[in-house]
Amino acid sequence: SGEEKLKIEKGEFITIAHRGASAYAPEHTMQSYKLAKEMNADYLEIDVQMTKDGVPIAYHDHKLDDKTDWKGEIEQYRLDEIKQIDIGKWFGEDFQGAKILTLEEIFKRFGTDTNYYIELKKTNKGVEKTVYDLLLKYDLNLSNGQVIIQSFSQDSLLRMKSLNVRIPLIKLLEDENALNLTEQKLKEITSYAAGVGVNYKAVTKDFVDLAHNNNLLVHAYTVNQLKVMNEMLELGVDGMFTNKPDVLLELSLSF
Ligand code: G3P
Ligand code: CA
Repeated sequence: SGEEKLKIEKGEFITIAHRGASAYAPEHTMQSYKLAKEMNADYLEIDVQMTKDGVPIAYHDHKLDDKTDWKGEIEQYRLDEIKQIDIGKWFGEDFQGAKILTLEEIFKRFGTDTNYYIELKKTNKGVEKTVYDLLLKYDLNLSNGQVIIQSFSQDSLLRMKSLNVRIPLIKLLEDENALNLTEQKLKEITSYAAGVGVNYKAVTKDFVDLAHNNNLLVHAYTVNQLKVMNEMLELGVDGMFTNKPDVLLELSLSF
């Protein structure tokens, strides 16, 4: 990022590497994030949850059952237990042994050289303050868009805002809410957030216009097909979450 103005400050389109370059390596692993960085994705997207002992880690599913040999909820386990879990094997033998990362390990590895798009998945154990303290510890810029905080929980976003009023916030919309968005609801979101994150299936021209008229950015999730990427660019969205940042970057540059 350095001294240069970030794309988001310049109103340019952004490519958000959803759980890293997760089409090519298991989501949320160091391989996935390294790949996203190598591909020059604008943001590393990180889903954050807390371990039993209050450490923020990068993992999407609340339960471990689907992609690991373990059972139950993330929050039932301490970090030392979480670190024994293999989250690479389900994706392919080559990735066997990949470990769940703490948010701090990701910051340690990439520092201020990249931009982070962090989702507060669950709002337990004071996750907002814990994440905020880590952002400070790693000297990340909290006002220029180097860090964006996203959540489906308005309460969680408001807690983050109370810790730092300048940090850009994205309100994620459930599909049904995006489809039935009222002017009043949008006004409420505008009062604290920089934009909305929306399932691409709910994104229409009217939706984008309505959001833009209310000064809100539109970031569409999660777009992996070239055809849909094209459609979203045509509709004028401001960014997309994708598992294939290489494909989206190439397309958006030529758009
Ligand atoms: O954070 C935007 C998008 O990632 C929301 O869906 O379930 O992949 O976190 P999910
Ligand atoms: Ca997410």
